[in-house]
Amino acid sequence: MKKTILLLVGLLLVLTGCSIGTKWNNPIPNDDFLIVGHRGASAYEPENTIPAFELAKNLGADYIELDIHMTKDGELVIMHDKDVKRTTESKGKIKDHTLAELKELTADEKKGEKVAVSSQEEAYDIPMLREVLEEMEDDVRFVIELKDPEEYEGIEEKLVSMMKDYGLFANDENGYPKAVIHSFDEESLQKVHRLNKDIPLLQLISFDDGEEAVMSKEELNELLTYAIGVGVSYEALNAKFVSAMHQADIIVFAYTVDDREEAVKLQAMGVDGIHTNKPDLLTTTD
Ligand code: G3P
Ligand code: CA
Repeated sequence: MKKTILLLVGLLLVLTGCSIGTKWNNPIPNDDFLIVGHRGASAYEPENTIPAFELAKNLGADYIELDIHMTKDGELVIMHDKDVKRTTESKGKIKDHTLAELKELTADEKKGEKVAVSSQEEAYDIPMLREVLEEMEDDVRFVIELKDPEEYEGIEEKLVSMMKDYGLFANDENGYPKAVIHSFDEESLQKVHRLNKDIPLLQLISFDDGEEAVMSKEELNELLTYAIGVGVSYEALNAKFVSAMHQADIIVFAYTVDDREEAVKLQAMGVDGIHTNKPDLLTTTD
């Protein structure tokens, strides 16, 4: 009888995907495949603009990803590069511009080439982080990237304080964090962790072309001191790496995936979500 009960428990564990000794304590549930709108729905609207974020939300993105920098006068603004040259009509570093100067520019790197859903000129402003948090509906979740944080003394403190002001430390009604921070800069993430241990952090990692994602025991132990997940270039991801991360309670995102077949492969591999410029990648029929 005892044997039968043990067998049944074992079978139940296999069927539910659980294994003895493994418990998922990560603040992000791992029972879903999350779609992160990379710089918004940036395949269709100018990247890192409010229309791109609105569209990502309307296309069903679970999270909206955006990149932040700091102006000369200490305002957090959203743009990918630290220089305004690629995405505006001007040039020079963000940190050498005041907010007022940036607000004179247009955030549209391929003027006329992208499908412009919105017609208001002001829709292509360079947005401040504050504006996005104010204008977007409450049910939007954010992945905020600290971009080139070594350029901006005090940017971590500003970000953490703004997240507090806008109630972003909470989970939403579905149990997902309203905001997470990611960065390639480990030092900056560790600084955020020292400021507030409850903010979910993801370490971005890039691998060279042809290289397989791998992490040493020492690197993993270090990661576990501050992060709840990793974002990895999708070409490098493999099932062994994903499984090792999950065993350590670390969530895995793949970036940046705009091909449906690749997305399906990554989902089958066990990856927890993708960053994509096309948040409708898996739902569109064409
Ligand atoms: O999706 C990961 C990503 O945000 C990091 O790359 O250069 O697009 O900010 P990047
Ligand atoms: Ca980014």
